[in-house]
Amino acid sequence: MTDWSARQYLRFEDDRTRPSRDLLAQVPLTEPRLIIDLGCGPGNSTELLVERYPRAEVMGLDSSPNMLRQARERLPKCTFIEADIATWSPEVAPDLLFANAVFQWVPNHRAVLRRLLEGLPEGGVLAVQMPDNTREPALALMSEVAGKGPWAVNAAFDDAARADLAPPETYYDLLKPVCTRVDLWHVIYNHVMAGPEAVVEWFKGSGLRPFLDAVDPALREDFLKAYLAQITRHYSRRNDGRVLLKFPRFFIVATR
Ligand SMILES: C[S@@+](CC[C@H](N)C(=O)[O-])C[C@H]1O[C@@H](n2cnc3c(N)ncnc32)[C@H](O)[C@@H]1O
Repeated sequence: MTDWSARQYLRFEDDRTRPSRDLLAQVPLTEPRLIIDLGCGPGNSTELLVERYPRAEVMGLDSSPNMLRQARERLPKCTFIEADIATWSPEVAPDLLFANAVFQWVPNHRAVLRRLLEGLPEGGVLAVQMPDNTREPALALMSEVAGKGPWAVNAAFDDAARADLAPPETYYDLLKPVCTRVDLWHVIYNHVMAGPEAVVEWFKGSGLRPFLDAVDPALREDFLKAYLAQITRHYSRRNDGRVLLKFPRFFIVATR
């Protein structure tokens, strides 16, 4: 996949950071010494960790050079490392692994969650948030649009759509054997967007990326126009002209 764009991602920074705030609010630690922000992106989630735990050493990890550049500029005192969560293990066991909006991108993420949790010390916490929105029109329409038009019949689309998350029971059964406590919950956000175009811009910074990578560059604008037309049909404007982007998200706070 092409690299992430920190600039595109941060166009909706307030809305995108809110789940991190909600996740962090449930982390039951008072004095963690070492915190690692997995999939730290441009440092927005890392900054929250630094603010809440000013005495801790906070590190960020991401696989995207573009995101890491932005994160280092934003938080010059923090250490940021380039690595793939799928294969990475901490050199020193951290007290908190924080992962907002990243594990949905990690193949076989349930096994990785369990492995990382097993490496935490007693009382250590793994805090995770993943979008649970694959059934929402905005996501389903990506595959629908990909299946019609001159860009269709393209094997690269096969892996573009994210798989549905497993139900909470699956995560509970997976993690509880190595935890004293597993806290699981969903939140449905309704992000107020300026219009259907803003919904498309939002997903250009996340879920649309694998689709746009798969489309022939000469057809990308047409693909986006077709997607916008479908979004416009499915997300009707409210009385003030804005649209609500319904966005379910799944949260886990697991304590070793
Ligand atoms: C949606 S952003 C989340 C950014 C930030 N944590 C936040 O709360 O807004 C997802 C980030 O995960 C990173 N990422 C995706 N897959 C990864 C992997 N396998 N290993 C490390 N980072 C990954 C991407 O580069 C991107 O910066």
